[in-house]
Amino acid sequence: MDQYVVFGNPIGHSKSPLIHRLFAEQTAQRLVYTTLLAPLDDFAGCARGFFVDGRGANVTVPFKEEAYRLADSLTARAQRAGAVNTLSKLADGSLLGDNTDGAGLVRDLTVNAGFSLKGKRILLLGAGGAVRGALEPLLAEQPASLIIANRTVEKAELLAELFSDLGPVSASGFDWLREPVDLIINATSASLTGDMPPIAASLIEPGQTVCYDMMYGKEPTAFCRWASQYGAAISMDGLGMLAEQAAEAFFLWRGVRPDTAPVLAELRRQLVL
Ligand SMILES: NC(=O)c1ccc[n+]([C@@H]2O[C@H](COP(=O)([O-])OP(=O)(O)OC[C@H]3O[C@@H](n4cnc5c(N)ncnc54)[C@H](OP(=O)(O)O)[C@@H]3O)[C@@H](O)[C@H]2O)c1
Repeated sequence: MDQYVVFGNPIGHSKSPLIHRLFAEQTAQRLVYTTLLAPLDDFAGCARGFFVDGRGANVTVPFKEEAYRLADSLTARAQRAGAVNTLSKLADGSLLGDNTDGAGLVRDLTVNAGFSLKGKRILLLGAGGAVRGALEPLLAEQPASLIIANRTVEKAELLAELFSDLGPVSASGFDWLREPVDLIINATSASLTGDMPPIAASLIEPGQTVCYDMMYGKEPTAFCRWASQYGAAISMDGLGMLAEQAAEAFFLWRGVRPDTAPVLAELRRQLVL
């Protein structure tokens, strides 16, 4: 049977095997998908060993940049992101690197939540790997503006410059922002410690602004709680992004697009157990 893995370190917590097993069942694809704990000092060796027989892999923290360097060729969005979360073995044995994180985010917002990004004012909090992956797909939706705000402002400025040819992108510090926006995406890892980036509540226009946290958990994240408290029209977490980036990878490998709705429902059910 065709073999797939997700590389990470640590990797025990990964939901990817469950997601891809459900996709395979749903689409009647015969494949095996497991976790693979790569050593911190030898991701490349571990990946090469797997790809002697393996067909495809997802890559998570902390190996996305190494996977970018390992790939023999890259999709345009992976090239832009400077990070790879999906590797696919091509017919000639070479490895294609893709980044499906941003496409997963955009699909969760536009398809699952039914929120069009065209002409909207977007505020993106953070300037790490997740933001790099999200910028090209977000700008492709033609927002009116996209502000990257980060604790370390220089990182936001660097990204704004790197992506400036793709749309109206600018950089900011957290405390410079006051005017309401249409969408706030939290791509900081502040939620991991139950913290909230220090931004003004006036950024939310009650009943209008959509708030999205890339983090997810059993309980609403600190950012989602903040958004609800100040009247956000929608406050959602990143579980849908997780399912959608996986569906993009599955499509790349198998040429079949799974229906994410029942899989997302099952993930949510298991998360709150
Ligand atoms: N749902 C999904 O499928 C999905 C996919 C990818 C990532 N994510 C989530 O997205 C988040 C970011 O991931 P990443 O890979 O981009 O991480 P990363 O590369 O480590 O970047 C972390 C970012 O968070 C900022 N930050 C950290 N602690 C902060 C705090 N206490 N207050 C304000 N800002 C803080 C950092 O700012 P500095 O630059 O100033 O250090 C940096 O911009 C994580 O929560 C991750 O779980 C979700």
